[in-house]
Amino acid sequence: MDGLKNSLGYRYLQETKFDAQSIRRRMPPDIAPAPPYKEYAAAEKVALPTDWEINGSLGDVLQYRRSRRRYTDKPLSMQELAMLLWASQGINARAGRYLFRTAPSAGALYPVETYLSVQNVQPLSPGLYHFQPVEFGLERIDAGPTGAKVAEAALGQNFMAKAGVVFIWSAVLRRNFSKYGHRGLRYVMLDAGHICQNLLLAAEGLGLGACPVAAFYDDECNRLLGLDGEEESVIYLAAVGTKEEQQPES
Ligand SMILES: Cc1cc2nc3c(=O)[nH]c(=O)nc-3n(C[C@H](O)[C@H](O)[C@H](O)COP(=O)(O)O)c2cc1C
Repeated sequence: MDGLKNSLGYRYLQETKFDAQSIRRRMPPDIAPAPPYKEYAAAEKVALPTDWEINGSLGDVLQYRRSRRRYTDKPLSMQELAMLLWASQGINARAGRYLFRTAPSAGALYPVETYLSVQNVQPLSPGLYHFQPVEFGLERIDAGPTGAKVAEAALGQNFMAKAGVVFIWSAVLRRNFSKYGHRGLRYVMLDAGHICQNLLLAAEGLGLGACPVAAFYDDECNRLLGLDGEEESVIYLAAVGTKEEQQPES
């Protein structure tokens, strides 16, 4: 018998459906919220440059974007890194207590945190960093080369070790589940998709190569970042590097 209806995904979608009756009967979830931003207070801070401008035609970027997995040794610049971070998770508007970002988020809750495995970005030292959107800066959480470890944690996808930077996105589940309960997982994953697509389009616009990655060992990725995998867990990655010319990629 076909297993579709026994799959967890199928059951999840069925059990988290809205309809006109159930939407009125639903109870607020018994889940405490989490702070809207994560901060590594003791970490060394790195300010990101703001002297850049994103140009380029959206039409061209949409036409030419591809998942690109071959990178040269040329480092990314701090300006390029800053543009990628702003495009994917930068704050672009403020209204009261809400800080809106370049990518949409269900309920403006922004449950996704951005970490970086910095591997070849001049003049940034290699290591693991956390992105601070409010300050528009980085917090260094671990020093030393991490490319090989990230590639290993991504099922041995070695092209990731050659990237200038790997974006690693985690979800702080409470931030979303405290409002949306069981249905929240749908929104967290959709949020991550928006963020990653913004990154991929920005990378293409900058002439860089990027590739999204969802095949990874969850526990290994969480361990690398010191996340517990329960309150906060890695959900998606993307490698970005200086692309080789003439890449005939899928
Ligand atoms: C959710 C998701 C997960 C993916 N995971 C991987 C991955 O683990 N490794 C990889 O090399 N590419 C991965 N990709 C890239 C796809 O293989 C690629 O998008 C697809 O082949 C279509 O090619 P295009 O992106 O160039 O249009 C992923 C893409 C998505 C959207």
